[in-house]
Amino acid sequence: MSRLIRERFRQRADPFAAAFVSSAAEDARLVPYDLAGSRAHAAMLRAVGLLTAAELRAIRSAFDSIEREWRAGKRRLTTADEDVHLAVERWVTELAGAAGAKLHTGRSRNDQVALDLRLYVRDQIDALHAAIGALQHALLAQARKHTETVMPGYTHLQRAQPIVLAHQLLAWHDALARDAERLTDARRRVNICPLGAGALAGTSLPIQPRLVAKALGFDGVFTNSIDASADRDFAIEFVSAAALLQTHLSQIAETLILWATAEFGFVALPDALCTSSSMMPQKRNPDLLELVRAKTARVNAALVAVLGIVKALPPGYQRDLQEMKPPLFGAADVAAASLQAITLAVKGVRVNKEAMRRAAADPQLLATDLAELLVHKGVAFRTAHGAVARLMRHCAERNTSPAAMPLAQLRRFAPQFGPEIFRILTPEASVRRKRSPGSTNPAQVARRVARTARK
Ligand code: ARG
Repeated sequence: MSRLIRERFRQRADPFAAAFVSSAAEDARLVPYDLAGSRAHAAMLRAVGLLTAAELRAIRSAFDSIEREWRAGKRRLTTADEDVHLAVERWVTELAGAAGAKLHTGRSRNDQVALDLRLYVRDQIDALHAAIGALQHALLAQARKHTETVMPGYTHLQRAQPIVLAHQLLAWHDALARDAERLTDARRRVNICPLGAGALAGTSLPIQPRLVAKALGFDGVFTNSIDASADRDFAIEFVSAAALLQTHLSQIAETLILWATAEFGFVALPDALCTSSSMMPQKRNPDLLELVRAKTARVNAALVAVLGIVKALPPGYQRDLQEMKPPLFGAADVAAASLQAITLAVKGVRVNKEAMRRAAADPQLLATDLAELLVHKGVAFRTAHGAVARLMRHCAERNTSPAAMPLAQLRRFAPQFGPEIFRILTPEASVRRKRSPGSTNPAQVARRVARTARK
């Protein structure tokens, strides 16, 4: 129960109501930001003459002790504190005496919490950026080794056409680059300082929001005090970008889980990343990846939660906004941990090239190449498609392959087939023959690996 601001009331706060309203539990991670914001605010108050030099000194030395004690675990937020802002103000007042009572001049908890959250989200964006970079680096390192490693490419989870493994790895790299871009874009809008908006209307005091913004590394200052104190679209954008990022991580997790099954056998996770069974002694389970997949639901739920919280809010600060903290923090935590998990998996995974080659050697995968061979000879694509479909049905029913059939027999399906057909009937030839931009052609893929690594 914060006594700091209860003079209006005749009754003490009801203990249940006070605990229910308190954001102390989730505010712990905002303490460093609240302190940094308050330092900048105090310096500004001094600059505009609202604090004396001696008062600023007293407040600063209080911040120094609080920071030291917070880091040493000697201070805690409890539900007796309504939130981080009142706790910090109480601590400063206990240490700095009369000067502490001036700290809250010209500000409100409404612009303060908006400030803390913007500082927090900005840090999270920077941390996710670094972590995305590390995963991209790991993908590139694997891609460099596998520009010639053929494997089946799939659509509908059915074998489709041969690809090289590096092509898939670069596909993930591209998706992550867009995730990083979305975060960069969101950061521009996050990095606007809301302090100075007051409760909603500004203040009659001669504050200078620009000084605070500059001290805290913001690119700009709010232009409307209602918007600055009450909108949370910056946080929603972050959760939205995190949800897309997490979706990509979940897809990578699912793919590696599948590839690590005995049925595929394309990769093996290192022991260090596997869990076993309490009953079945042989088990090597990919729980790490399964949890990345499952935790994605939390980030998606977070996005629904933050959108749901704001959807019917009237203008100005509402306490509802406090409830955005758990989903916001949760989404950031899950995305950061999942990036680390997937990076470990991509770095540690052992690739079974032989198993990939064996699966890619399925002659059915070459059907499109055969149809395109006919197109090169002037056959209309749809006609070629039909001829090769009949050839492939013939092969599937007799468990044979075009490579094992005499040319005369192949010509019964399409008279245009010539002896060169036998030169293209391997997965290596299939990928080499690709020439369209952005294709799985190994030389192209190798160039893309080199170019991406230079960026
Ligand atoms: N704990 C609040 C939050 O997290 C801080 C702002 C409270 N402001 C108010 N007028 N009740 O949003």
